[in-house]
Amino acid sequence: MNIVTIVGSIRKESYNMKLAKTLQERYKDKLNINIIDIASLPFFNQDEEENPPQIVREFKETIANADGVIIVTPEYNWSVPGILKNALDWTSRVDKVLIGKPVMALGASMGMLGTVRAQMHLREILSSPGIQAKVLPPGGNEVLIGFANQKFDEETNQLAEEGTLNFLDSIIDKFTNFVKEA
Ligand code: FNR
Repeated sequence: MNIVTIVGSIRKESYNMKLAKTLQERYKDKLNINIIDIASLPFFNQDEEENPPQIVREFKETIANADGVIIVTPEYNWSVPGILKNALDWTSRVDKVLIGKPVMALGASMGMLGTVRAQMHLREILSSPGIQAKVLPPGGNEVLIGFANQKFDEETNQLAEEGTLNFLDSIIDKFTNFVKEA
């Protein structure tokens, strides 16, 4: 199963990137996870939406060809980082590559609430007319990793907390079935 993963942080030591890499490694037997670069995308410009730069075309094509998308994002000021919103804005115009695409979201933050506000905003964005992704429903499926600074192994850089990893296993199983049924 081919999964594209979009990470909302470009910080070198990003916990969310470490989380994406944990997914890539831990589920490599069943998911082929491609962590896609969004830092090189230009700012969305409506003047260019019909004929976007090559890098945007490739980004959209990669999403179009994926079986599903996993978004791993921090929370910035109670919402999603601009870099993630920018990438999503590109997907929402002309060839609307996220329509009907299975998506799940997860996030890590240093605070207690583990990106809950960002994820609520993200669900709204993903429901907008130009995006209309098929999002793994809430109700037990939210992966909100708070106090991230205490949960990653400093040597392997991977998520290391057993309880969170077990929960992640169950949600990834659900998402895998969700993608198969889509
Ligand atoms: C934050 N942080 C943050 N945390 C949170 O739980 N809610 C928030 O609204 C914000 N807002 C916020 C804004 C900005 C501009 C920054 C730089 C940071 C803290 C954030 O959770 C923390 O920096 C994470 O480590 C960011 O994720 P990465 O880069 O580690 O993946």
